[in-house]
This record gives sequence, structure tokens and C-alpha cells, in this order.
Amino acid sequence: MAPLDATQRRTSNLSRLVAASTLTIMSACLSTVAIATVEIVTPTTTAKKARNLPGLHNVVTYADELLCGGVPEGEQGFAALATLGVKTVISVDGATPDLVHATAHGLRYVHLPISYDTVSSERQLQLAQAIRNVQRPIYVHCHHGKHRSGAALATALVCAGEMSVAEVSERMGVSGTAASYTGLWQAVRAAQPMSPAQLQADPASFPSVTVVTGLVATMAEMDQIIDLVRQSHQARWQAPDDHPDLVAEKETERLASLIASLRDDSESKQYPAEYQQHLQHSIEVSEKLHRAVRDGNAIQAAQMLSTLGQSCKTCHHTYRNK
Ligand code: HEC
Repeated sequence: MAPLDATQRRTSNLSRLVAASTLTIMSACLSTVAIATVEIVTPTTTAKKARNLPGLHNVVTYADELLCGGVPEGEQGFAALATLGVKTVISVDGATPDLVHATAHGLRYVHLPISYDTVSSERQLQLAQAIRNVQRPIYVHCHHGKHRSGAALATALVCAGEMSVAEVSERMGVSGTAASYTGLWQAVRAAQPMSPAQLQADPASFPSVTVVTGLVATMAEMDQIIDLVRQSHQARWQAPDDHPDLVAEKETERLASLIASLRDDSESKQYPAEYQQHLQHSIEVSEKLHRAVRDGNAIQAAQMLSTLGQSCKTCHHTYRNK
């Protein structure tokens, strides 16, 4: 038999992946139907559960016209924000804001990234000034919409004198801000209302993009890519409907090379030996994931994707979420 050319090999790999994922197809179809019927309305300030809207995850309303949630996903997410009447989007995530989609929907972006270990007093002031001076309704987001966006909006509301620590903590509970992010919770508990003079700011002074570099930037990019890989996994390793250009094999390759690049990253190299062991483990798992996806081994790919997610968490537990 003649050797397969690259296209044929890819096709046969894909068909094996497809066969192994029939169950996923069925659940994917069901969820599409469910999404199509979701009504795009702002959750109430007393809702006890976060809501998923098209292109927007984990949406919780903290106060009138102040919403919190996950990163708006492409056209669908920004269209949903516009439908909700949102005027300003505040990102507290390290990733570069999607200004193209935001602008297309008439939304202003403000980018004030925070880390997982605290909300610095400087950021608390900027966030409070931002929610007081930019146009409302406002949607505050990080990547998943649980921890950093919750803590950022909560401290801003307390500093702006609009809600008490007890009230914002209840809303953070609904967002699902985990108790293990002790630094974020501490920042919220220690937040103090500021004076009207402190809260004054020029509405035009807030940046739409804050340049994030080094380890944090690489991590934010890894987070976006692993999300794409997860979506591709859910779509039987094909391109999901809302990401027609996504090629799983390219994304796993990009992810593996980013993780490997941390070996030479000056900030990453400063961490202790145990961190380097976690890093080495993640590098190996990301390479296995890439090979499994490339070779069409759906079972191994799913396993490695889950193992990689665990290995991100294990390192963060000790070295990020202080
Ligand atoms: C070897 C340890 C280690 C591994 C493995 C690791 N991380 Fe991180 N990550 C860190 C550290 C340390 C920080 C905090 C950096 C800082 O704030 O200076 C971080 C920060 C982050 C952030 C926050 C970036 C921001 O916006 O502030 C994200 C998101 C993230 N990592 C995603 C991931 C993902 C996804 C993986 C797995 C594919 C992963 N990380 C694997 C150590 C690790």
C-alpha cells in the first residue's frame, strides 16, 4: 500500500477521534439547543446562582448596573454584553483585551490587571475610581469570572462606598471565589470606603490596554490556549462552531512550546527547585498531549489534557495563590 500523504493521515486520525467521541457529539448537540433558548437578561442582584449567557460565563450582578463574569467570548460574548446594555468592560486579567469586538459593539474597554495573590491598594483606588467615573452599566471580568473579577469588583464597591464588606462577600460567594485565594479575600475584608475627593478621576484617564510582560503574560496566553484546546476536545477535536479556524494540533503545539519557553524565562528561573520540578512535569505532559492530538489518539489526548490541567493547578497552589 502506498504511504499515506499528510492530508490522508490527518483525515484518518480525525475519523478515529470522531468515532471515539460519539457521546460528546450528542451532548454537544443538546447544549447547542439549550444555548439557543437562553434569554439575554441581566441577572438580579439577589440571584443565588451565577448564570451562563451566550459567550459569557458565570455572570453575577453585584449591584445595579455592575456585573461580574468571565471573559467575553468573541462576537457572541460582546453581542450579549451590548444586548445587556453594558457600556464599559473592565478586564482585570493579564490577557490583552479584545478591542476589535468591543469597539464593533460600541463598548469601551478599561484594562486594570490584578494577580491572584492580592488587590494592591493602588489598584483598589484605580478600580474604585473607574467604577465611579466611567459609563455604566459596567461588566468586570477576568478569565473564568470567579476569583479575580469578583475580588476586584468587590474591593471597588467597598472603596467607592457603595456596598459593605458583608454584602460584597455574599456576591463573591455566588461568583464562586474560592476560599483558597486567601490574599484576594484579605484585600476585600481590609478594603475601606474612600473620600469623594479620592474617588474623583478623569474618565478618559483609564487605559484600554495595560501592557503585561514576562511570566504573567506567558501564563495568560497559556490560559487562553488551554481553553481553546478544551473547546476542541468538546467538539470531538474538530473546530468548534464559534472557532472555525481552530486546529487542535496547532494549539497543542503552541501550548507545549510556551510552557517549554518558561525553562529560559528569567522570572521563572528564580523560583526554587520544587517549582522547577512542577515545570518539568508540565512540559512533559504538554508534549505528550501534543503528540496524542497529532497522532489522533483521542483517549490519550483526553487524559493528558486533564493531567495538564491538574499540573497547572498544583504549581499555582504553592507558587501563585498565596
Ligand atoms: C511551574 C509552575 C507553574 C505551572 C506549571 C503553571 N503555572 Fe501559571 N502561574 C505560575 C506562577 C508562579 C504565576 C504567578 C506569576 C506572577 O503573578 O508573577 C502563574 C500565573 C498564572 C496565571 C495568571 C496570569 C495573570 O493574568 O495574572 C494564569 C492564568 C496561569 N498561571 C495559567 C496557567 C496554566 C493554564 C497552566 C498550565 C497549562 C499554568 N499556568 C502552569 C506558575 C505556574
